Amino acid sequence: MPVRRIHHILLCLLHMWTILTSVSSHPQHSICQLIQRTAVCNNGSLSSVPARLPKDLEELQLNHNNIQTLQNNFLLDYPSLKTLSLACNSLEKIELNTFQDSKLLQSLNLAKNKLHVGYEETSNALKTLPRLRALDLSENELNDEMIATLLQNLTSLEYLNLSGNVLGRLDETSFSDLHQLKELDLQRNIMYEIAGAFDSNPKLQRLNLAFNYLLCLTDFHMTQLVVLNASHNFIEWFGSRQDLNDTFLLETLDLSDNRLFFFPFLPNHSHLRNLYLSHNNIRFYEHLADNSTLPNSTTTVEFYNMNKYSGNVTAQLWDESIHGDITSLEILDLRGNQVQYFPHGFIQKMPVLSRLQMCTNCLETLNLTSEQFSGSLYELDVSNNRLNQIAADVGMLTALGNLTYLNLSLNEIKLLPSGLFSSLPSLRSVDLSYNNVGFCLPEESETKTDNSTTCLDWKNIASLRQLFLKGCNLKIIPSSAFTGLSLTHLELSDNPGVIVQESLKGLRTLQHLGLGNTYIQDFDFSHFQSLKSLIISGNYLSHLPPSLLNLI
Ligand SMILES: *[C@@H]1O[C@H](CO)[C@@H](O)[C@H](O)[C@H]1NC(C)=O
Ligand SMILES: *[C@@H]1O[C@H](CO)[C@@H](O)[C@H](O)[C@H]1NC(C)=O
Ligand SMILES: *[C@@H]1O[C@H](CO)[C@@H](O)[C@H](O)[C@H]1NC(C)=O
Ligand SMILES: *[C@@H]1O[C@H](CO)[C@@H](O)[C@H](O)[C@H]1NC(C)=O
Ligand SMILES: *[C@@H]1O[C@H](CO)[C@@H](O)[C@H](O)[C@H]1NC(C)=O
Ligand SMILES: *[C@@H]1O[C@H](CO)[C@@H](O)[C@H](O)[C@H]1NC(C)=O
Ligand SMILES: *[C@@H]1O[C@H](CO)[C@@H](O)[C@H](O)[C@H]1NC(C)=O
Ligand SMILES: *[C@@H]1O[C@H](CO)[C@@H](O)[C@H](O)[C@H]1NC(C)=O
Ligand SMILES: *[C@@H]1O[C@H](CO)[C@@H](O)[C@H](O)[C@H]1NC(C)=O
Ligand SMILES: *[C@@H]1O[C@H](CO)[C@@H](O)[C@H](O)[C@H]1NC(C)=O
Ligand SMILES: *[C@@H]1O[C@H](CO)[C@@H](O)[C@H](O)[C@H]1NC(C)=O
Ligand SMILES: *[C@@H]1O[C@H](CO)[C@@H](O)[C@H](O)[C@H]1NC(C)=O
Repeated sequence: MPVRRIHHILLCLLHMWTILTSVSSHPQHSICQLIQRTAVCNNGSLSSVPARLPKDLEELQLNHNNIQTLQNNFLLDYPSLKTLSLACNSLEKIELNTFQDSKLLQSLNLAKNKLHVGYEETSNALKTLPRLRALDLSENELNDEMIATLLQNLTSLEYLNLSGNVLGRLDETSFSDLHQLKELDLQRNIMYEIAGAFDSNPKLQRLNLAFNYLLCLTDFHMTQLVVLNASHNFIEWFGSRQDLNDTFLLETLDLSDNRLFFFPFLPNHSHLRNLYLSHNNIRFYEHLADNSTLPNSTTTVEFYNMNKYSGNVTAQLWDESIHGDITSLEILDLRGNQVQYFPHGFIQKMPVLSRLQMCTNCLETLNLTSEQFSGSLYELDVSNNRLNQIAADVGMLTALGNLTYLNLSLNEIKLLPSGLFSSLPSLRSVDLSYNNVGFCLPEESETKTDNSTTCLDWKNIASLRQLFLKGCNLKIIPSSAFTGLSLTHLELSDNPGVIVQESLKGLRTLQHLGLGNTYIQDFDFSHFQSLKSLIISGNYLSHLPPSLLNLI
């Protein structure tokens, strides 16, 4: 009977179905997601490597599981494995023969485990990986001796992460087998000394030493290094080796959050583009050199080296070449230092400087003309200094064709070059908050005598979009003050009692308006159809103006 046969076939199918479902719902398998030749088995409670995954697997992710030991037989099924990731298990050791059939393995992530427990056996297992290129051993409570053992004979390694361990001291033996090393992350250890540690790593390009306890970096001579990050240490001075005539490949140097007293002594020849020096004690000492008004003034400083590997250094305080090669600098971040002035010719030496960040220093004057800023300047932040005057002539201002962001807030500015803002063709954002400046009244702009001014004229600056005038002690804003502007941001908060209404009427493009603490009692918002945010706290509004409610 046909009906019977169909029944029979159906039964067969059902039987097969149950076999199939029982396999695919096997607890170890269902926890993995297969994407081509990658198995993602993260976030389970696996204590071993799942079996029955495809034989030709190339990548296996086992992060956030409970694997304590990687046993000899765990990887036998997967001889094509190139990438293995075991971060965040409680891995204590890798047994000696684990990788006997994993000769293709290139990348091994063992971050955030407990390898300090079984580092010796693990180190012997790692030696059996002839193609290992990337190794992450971060956060494993490893000390100097354990690391030295683990890294022995890893001659093919190119990327190594040792961050978050307990390394204290590095010397020439630490990485002596890693001849191919390109990138090394050593941040967040407890390192206090580095002595000749990288002399065997001629290909090293990126080195991160952030968040350690280093006191100085002297005799810097890694000419091949491209990025050096030594931020968040206790470094008092940075010096490169002065007798080298090679061009250093260094492009980025981060020495922020240290204790530098001097601008770093950079290599004589380099392509350094980004120099981060924020939050140090840097100032310049040119005024001390040969200064007859200062008795007993010194012309040199001696740096004594406790380190047997390098000699003492004598620095000439006023020598302009002491800063090294800064001709390629694009970003100079000096936020939070003690700079009172720039040494003679300093700014001029940076013809492609794009961002100068000087917020929170001790600058007293700034003369854009005598410093000779370059036309590539894009951002100038001199906020929170002691400036009472900015000087510049018209020729200089028109040469600053790229200046887009100008932050002069939190100073004591009383004098500005007349036409400062209207002469800068790309000016987009100006912050003058917390200075004592006002708007030019119509009669004032006519009667200017010299070329600097105490009042500001904003009319018709076509490029301007953002204007911050918080806390400027403004009283009256002339009704024509913002004529011809297409502002999107206007901040006038903290000017108690300021009279604004008429002047704002034309600003239909406004998206953000700050009128907090201005003592306004009523306001007509009907002109501001593009408004997205509004600050009106600290005022005398008895109700929300109907014109505001109509915008919603
Ligand atoms: C995996 O577990 C970690 C730690 O418990 C958690 O932060 C993460 O969100 C989890 N991811 C997924 C995809 O469940
Ligand atoms: C490790 O390297 C040393 C010499 O650097 C060599 O004597 C030793 O045989 C190597 N060990 C292995 C397991 O390759
Ligand atoms: C090194 O590991 C730490 C912690 O696991 C991580 O935050 C850091 O991004 C890693 N470094 C690199 C260069 O990948
Ligand atoms: C240097 O490392 C710190 C800590 O990881 C990081 O915050 C900073 O962005 C790094 N600097 C650069 C220039 O990448
Ligand atoms: C590098 O500059 C320093 C300071 O100006 C100088 O003493 C030294 O001779 C220069 N070295 C070379 C190799 O030019
Ligand atoms: C340094 O190199 C430049 C150009 O390569 C050369 O002109 C100069 O003489 C060299 N100086 C020293 C001290 O070797
Ligand atoms: C000498 O030092 C005084 C006080 O620091 C300073 O005002 C003056 O400009 C200096 N003179 C020279 C020539 O640098
Ligand atoms: C200058 O040096 C002399 C001799 O060393 C010393 O007696 C004097 O007190 C010093 N003067 C100042 C102002 O430090
Ligand atoms: C560095 O100066 C100290 C103190 O004067 C001295 O003991 C040491 O020998 C000098 N080292 C070298 C290499 O000149
Ligand atoms: C600014 O520098 C220029 C050129 O050195 C000079 O002519 C001008 O007087 C200076 N301005 C002020 C206010 O010091
Ligand atoms: C102006 O600044 C931008 C952004 O930093 C930059 O890409 C551009 O090259 C600069 N132009 C000049 C002439 O320096
Ligand atoms: C002052 O302005 C006048 C006219 O704009 C100009 O001729 C003169 O050179 C300016 N002087 C300075 C020092 O900028």
